[in-house]
Amino acid sequence: MDIKTFKVERWMNEYEEQAVYNLAETCVDSITIKELLELAGEDVDSYMRSLADLRLSYSHIFGSPQLLAGIASLYKDVKPQHVIPTHGAIGANNQVITTLIGRDDNMVSVMPTYQQHYSIPESIGADVRILQLTLEDDYLPNLDVLRSLVDEKTKMITINNPNNPTGSWIPVDIMQEIIEIAKSVDAYVLCDEVYRGIAEDERYMHSIVDLYDKGISVGSMSKVFSMAGVRMGWIVTKDEAALHLCHERRDYDTISCGVVDDALSSLALAHKEAIFARNRGILNKNRAILDQWVNETPEVKYLRPVAGTTALVYYNKDIPSQELCKKLLFEKGVLFTPGECFEMEGAVRIGYAYDSKTLREGLDKFTEFLREL
Ligand SMILES: Cc1ncc(COP(=O)(O)O)c(C=O)c1O
Repeated sequence: MDIKTFKVERWMNEYEEQAVYNLAETCVDSITIKELLELAGEDVDSYMRSLADLRLSYSHIFGSPQLLAGIASLYKDVKPQHVIPTHGAIGANNQVITTLIGRDDNMVSVMPTYQQHYSIPESIGADVRILQLTLEDDYLPNLDVLRSLVDEKTKMITINNPNNPTGSWIPVDIMQEIIEIAKSVDAYVLCDEVYRGIAEDERYMHSIVDLYDKGISVGSMSKVFSMAGVRMGWIVTKDEAALHLCHERRDYDTISCGVVDDALSSLALAHKEAIFARNRGILNKNRAILDQWVNETPEVKYLRPVAGTTALVYYNKDIPSQELCKKLLFEKGVLFTPGECFEMEGAVRIGYAYDSKTLREGLDKFTEFLREL
C-alpha cells in the first residue's frame, strides 16, 4: 500500500524533543496520574494499591462497562452499545475509513484537517475530493462547494469539529445543512471530534451523533482530557451497519484496549467536570494571551480560534513555513508546526494549550525572531 508521509506526525517526531518552548503540542497541558487522582478525589496510595491488583489480561474486549458508560455520557442519547473503544482517535479514524471506504467510492474531506482523513482513503484508491476551508469563510465548510462535490457514489463526508489547525467550530445550523447534503446521497458523516468537549462558556457542544443517524463521531482522551498517554479513543455511531463492520475489522487490528488505560480513562470520564474545569481555565486564559499577542504584533494575523487547542497564524514574511519553523527552532528554541503540514503555506499552527508561561515566552521569542528576519 502506497501512503503519503504523515507530515504533521513526522514533524513532531523529528523536532519535538529539541524544543525549549513547545508550541506545537495540541493536548491541553497533560496531567500526571497523581493529578488525575487528586482531581477525582481518590486517595493516591489506596488507588495505586488497587491498581497493583489489576490482572493484566485482555480484560473486557469491548471496553469495561464503566468506560462505555463514561464515553456515552459525552453525548446526548448514546448507549454503551453505540461505542467502540480504539487505540486513540488515530486508531478510530483509521478503522472507520479503512472499514467503510473502498476503491470505487468517493469521499469528501475538508482541508486543512488531520491528514489521516484524506491520505488513508487516497491510499485505498478512493477518489478523495477536497473541500477547502478558507479564512474568508471563517474556516467553515462552504455549502455550495460541498453540494458540488458529492454525487451518488459519495460514501462519506469527513469533517473535523473543532478544527485542527484553525480552531473553528461549525455551528449547529451549518451542521444541519451538511447533514442534508449527506442525506441527499445517503453518505456517512465522519466527524473527528477529538477537540470537542470544552466550550468557552461551558455550553454543551453538539456532536454529529446527536444530529444524524449515519453520523460517526471519533473522540479520545488525548486532548481535552489531557491524557494522551493512555492511548484511548473511540468510535461512536448509531448506525448498525457501521458498528457491525467496524467490530469485524477491530478483531483484526485491536482485540481490546489496555486494561490500565481503560481503568484510568473510566476514572477520568466519571470526573470529567473536574478535568474540564481545570482545562477550561487553561484554554480561556491562554486564548486571551494569544489574542493579545496577535493584536499587538503587526507582523501576524489570524482568525481568533473559538474552540480546540490550536490556531493558524499567518506571518508577513516571504519564507516557506518549514524553513521558518526550523530556523525559529534552532535560533530561539520555539517549536511551531509549519502550515505546510496542512497544505496551508505562509502560516504556522500554534498550539496554545500548554502552560501560560511557555506560551507567553515563546510568542515573545517569535516576535523577536520576526523582527530580526
Ligand atoms: C484532529 C485529530 N484527530 C486525531 C488525532 C489523534 O489523536 P489520538 O491521540 O487520540 O490518537 C489528532 C492528534 O493530533 C488530531 O489532531
